[in-house]
Amino acid sequence: MNTIAPTPVLDVQGLSVHLPLGGRLVPVVTEMSFSVQAGEAVALVGESGCGKSMTARALIGLSPPGAQVGGRILLDGVDVASLSAAHRRRLGGGRIGFIFQEPMTALHPTLAIGTQMTDTLRLHLKFSAAQARERAAELLDRVGIPRARGVLDLYVHQLSGGMRQRVMIAMALSCKPALVIADEPTTALDVTIQAQVLHLLGEMRREMGLAMLYITHDLEVVADFCDRAIVMYAGDRVETGPARHLLQSPRHPYTHGLVAAIPGHGQVRRLPAIPGQVPALGDWPDGCRFVPRCAQATTKCQTRPAFDSALRCWHPLEAVA
Ligand SMILES: Nc1ncnc2c1ncn2[C@@H]1O[C@H](COP(=O)(O)OP(=O)(O)O)[C@@H](O)[C@H]1O
Ligand code: SF4
Ligand SMILES: [Mg+2]
Repeated sequence: MNTIAPTPVLDVQGLSVHLPLGGRLVPVVTEMSFSVQAGEAVALVGESGCGKSMTARALIGLSPPGAQVGGRILLDGVDVASLSAAHRRRLGGGRIGFIFQEPMTALHPTLAIGTQMTDTLRLHLKFSAAQARERAAELLDRVGIPRARGVLDLYVHQLSGGMRQRVMIAMALSCKPALVIADEPTTALDVTIQAQVLHLLGEMRREMGLAMLYITHDLEVVADFCDRAIVMYAGDRVETGPARHLLQSPRHPYTHGLVAAIPGHGQVRRLPAIPGQVPALGDWPDGCRFVPRCAQATTKCQTRPAFDSALRCWHPLEAVA
């Protein structure tokens, strides 16, 4: 019997982002394609500067000024390019919830938490003032904030880092989004709070059947929390697959390097950890962008490999049985 695959909540096809730099447009993200189904958590993984945030921001129309964004972004099968600018902006608070790494950039410093939350609820869900306040208190309670009603009258500087992140999660979930994008939501938090926030996001995903795009540099978190992962290097996919499988049997030398750098993962260490740094914008090699750091590189790697069978590499490592 043929089964028809459901339309993904998010379907990204050939996304590219170019930024004006030194009088020319330089690539920051190229040929990014991936999809996220309802209830699925997909990770974007890679070192700092690989273009993860730039990819995520392009999805919600928040690229830097002067950026050129190409490719197709479909939400529930609808091309967002076909939507009006106003409609697209509303996506930010409607169909897509966005959780930023640093809550201070997303929360207003001089508006009470309650005002910020009820504004969003009234705009997107057309709630009355009283309904919106009630719902805001429920949401804060749901994300584990004690004395939620009292917190509605506080300002962001009166909250701890963990509380701020919970408030932002509550805000991101407030309009019942279909997709939540979480950009390194726990990076600024201490380890215990990180674990609590991850647990909370996992619960929300299951309860609400959310699609989640989870951005992190930490492949170990990905294996525990996400179904699939997309490893990014210098603006591009280099390897994709089930998250746990990538951790156990990385095949791209870059993925391997990320795994080898995790303490306690020495057993998969077949190559040295990754020397050097992600190349700066405008300095990407013409062939494989990982060449200068790759212990496996040959002259063939001066030509850019295609993305084929979930990998972009001329000489992938053998799969670990
Ligand atoms: N507003 C900006 N203007 C110019 N370059 C930027 C801007 N933001 C980020 N970059 C550059 O774009 C590249 C990708 O950045 P980013 O998407 O933030 O990486 P990641 O989230 O993976 O750490 C980096 O080289 C970064 O320095
Ligand atoms: S294509 Fe070559 S340089 Fe690039 S990751 Fe593969 S082996 Fe290394
Ligand atoms: Mg980032």
